[in-house]
Amino acid sequence: MTKVAVWCRHEGDNIIGIGDSIPWRVPSDLKKFGRIVTGQNIVVGRKTYETLPPKFDKETIFVLSGQEDYETRAPQHQVVTKTKFFKDMEDDLYLCGGAGIYNLFMGDGGKLMPDVIVDCVYHGEMQQADGEKVDISSSVDMMRKKYMQVGSVYEEDNVTTAIYVKRGNFVEQRILKHIINSIINS
Ligand SMILES: NC(=O)c1ccc[n+]([C@@H]2O[C@H](COP(=O)([O-])OP(=O)(O)OC[C@H]3O[C@@H](n4cnc5c(N)ncnc54)[C@H](OP(=O)(O)O)[C@@H]3O)[C@@H](O)[C@H]2O)c1
Repeated sequence: MTKVAVWCRHEGDNIIGIGDSIPWRVPSDLKKFGRIVTGQNIVVGRKTYETLPPKFDKETIFVLSGQEDYETRAPQHQVVTKTKFFKDMEDDLYLCGGAGIYNLFMGDGGKLMPDVIVDCVYHGEMQQADGEKVDISSSVDMMRKKYMQVGSVYEEDNVTTAIYVKRGNFVEQRILKHIINSIINS
C-alpha cells in the first residue's frame, strides 16, 4: 500500500479551509486534484465528505467518522471509525483532507504516515468566508522534517505544486509517474 496525501494550502499560514469551504477558487487546481484522485481509493474526514461534489460519488471513498451509524450517500462509500482499518490494507490510499485527516495521518509517526505528499501552495488572496480558519501547520512542519522534495516544482495560476517523499521510503515509479502526469496535464 502506498499512501499519498494531496492538499492545497495557503502560502505562509497553511490554511486549507474556512468553515466548510476552501477560500479560493482555482479551476486548474481542482482539475489537477481530480486527475490525481479519480479512480483511486480516497480517504476523507466526515466534514470534507459532506462538501465533496457529486462527481466523486462513483469513487471508492473511506469516510472517517466517530459515528458508527453515519450514512454515506453511495454504496461504494464506507464509514471507517478506527484508523487500524487501514493498517493492513494492500491498495493505495489517497488522503484528501481535511485537516483532521492530514494531521491524524501525518502525526501518527509510524505506519499511517503518507509515503508521498502532493504539496500544492496557493499564493493569492483568500476570499472572505464564514467560519473558523482550518490550518495544517503541524502537518507541514512534519513534512519539512521527515520528507524530501523530489523532481520539479510546477507552477500554474498562482499555485505551485511540489512532490515530497518520506525519507527512507521506497516509492514505486508508477505512483510518481501517475502524479507527475496528472500535474503536467493541467
Ligand atoms: N485545501 C484543501 O486541500 C482541502 C482539502 C480537504 C478539505 N479542506 C477543507 O478542510 C476543512 C475541513 O477540515 P476539518 O479538519 O474541519 O474536517 P475533516 O478532517 O474533513 O473531518 C473531521 C471529521 O473526521 C472524523 N475524524 C477525524 N479524526 C477521526 C478519527 N481519529 N477517528 C474517527 N473519525 C475521525 C470526525 O467525524 P465525526 O464528527 O463524524 O466523528 C471529524 O469531525 C474544510 O474547510 C474543507 O473545505 C481543504
